[in-house]
Amino acid sequence: MKLWQNVFSTDIDSLADAFNRSINFDKQLYRYDILGTVAHVDMLAKQQIIPKDEGEQIIDALKTLLTDIDSGAVVIDETYEDIHSFVELYLTEKIGSVAKKMHTGRSRNDQVALDMKLYVLDQVKAMQDTLKELIGSLIQTAQAHTETIMPAFTHLRKAQPSTYGHYLCAYIEMFLRDLKKITLVKEVCLNSMPLGSGACCGNTYDIDRMYVAEQLGFEDITYNSLDGVADRDYVLDFLYAMSMICMHMSRYCEELILFSSEQFSYLTIAQAYSSGSSMMPQKRNPDMAELIRGKTGRVYGALLQMLTTMKALPLTYNKDMQEDKENFFDAVNTTLSSLRIFTAMHQTIAVNKEAMYHAARDSYITAVDAADYLVKKGIPFRDAYGAAAKLVNYCIDKNIYFYDLTAKEVIAIHPDFDAGLLKAITVENSLALRKQIGSPAPAMVAASLEKYRERLAVFGDS
Ligand code: ARG
Repeated sequence: MKLWQNVFSTDIDSLADAFNRSINFDKQLYRYDILGTVAHVDMLAKQQIIPKDEGEQIIDALKTLLTDIDSGAVVIDETYEDIHSFVELYLTEKIGSVAKKMHTGRSRNDQVALDMKLYVLDQVKAMQDTLKELIGSLIQTAQAHTETIMPAFTHLRKAQPSTYGHYLCAYIEMFLRDLKKITLVKEVCLNSMPLGSGACCGNTYDIDRMYVAEQLGFEDITYNSLDGVADRDYVLDFLYAMSMICMHMSRYCEELILFSSEQFSYLTIAQAYSSGSSMMPQKRNPDMAELIRGKTGRVYGALLQMLTTMKALPLTYNKDMQEDKENFFDAVNTTLSSLRIFTAMHQTIAVNKEAMYHAARDSYITAVDAADYLVKKGIPFRDAYGAAAKLVNYCIDKNIYFYDLTAKEVIAIHPDFDAGLLKAITVENSLALRKQIGSPAPAMVAASLEKYRERLAVFGDS
């Protein structure tokens, strides 16, 4: 049974029917579809477009249907074309002809736009909550490791001294940007209620769009009916924000895989978030981290698909837009489940401070500090850089690290090097001097963490 059944003289081809149908995936929207319809019918009755008692009857039946689907008492029948058809036709069967009035002054085009916005609003909230939990947990770990020395890398080569706390702060920054971004998606794209746009040019009834918006918790309504039904920017912006979240998680996971490997041994992933090998009993594989890294591609794929779907679509609604759902829903579920696993896994990571410290100390990551030592004595940086390079090469030739050097040796390399240099080029000293805002000196990381707590608090408990 179709909403438009009696318009055609022949039945739709069965293959075309199956191809056209969206109920197997848009059934996920049932809650939004029903709540949107409740608000619409409520408004129709208030405006005396339909009789009050009929409005009440439809609303009661809609609410019962919602409870019944929630409880499993009613199973959505997938032979209907879409969730909108199911709700209307199911209720017509339940309460009779009166249910046929629910679609007065509405099209499935503005209806689906409303359903999707309500769905995205809920997902934005879930994503905000999950991100807030993650950031809170990163802040806590970083706080415990403001003095846990590790090397920072460029080109995956040891570069300069940092701490694990400082390292985690980099990810706190990323996830705070993500949190802001998804909050902006809401502000920019989701606050306006599209119902009343009709198929594309509104309708001829005295409807009260603002009332519907208020019932559903929107701040405003859309102001152009063509755009009201043709807009899917909120899907795209949210997909982009999710792609960024996944990209950030993926970078962290890549490092977690490296840092927890035998070669690095900085970190250990709890067994609860590892898996074993069917053949090699010694293996503890970082499968969760790999999967989160791997699933990132799915979310990017959904973004690219949707950009392609919308490209060159003429105004207003086109059936292509039904393709806004399957990959999008998948991207939302993938991002949320990745975030949840990621947060839980992060909380169980064991830190091998010794390994991190030795990795930092047994290197030449304070070579710039040697140059800076000379610069502070008035030597031009380029010359100081040359002297520091000599120092590094000397150590490499002798197969020693800076902490093996004696005052005699350093003075021989440059006359302005002296015993003071030996302290200046320890990783501890180098770190302690990196006191600019955002740099790794423990006090500065603690100050950044204070800022992050404030920035997180702005987003409230929600
Ligand atoms: N299933 C459709 C979608 O998701 C609902 C809107 C149908 N509109 C129409 N004019 N056929 O886009």
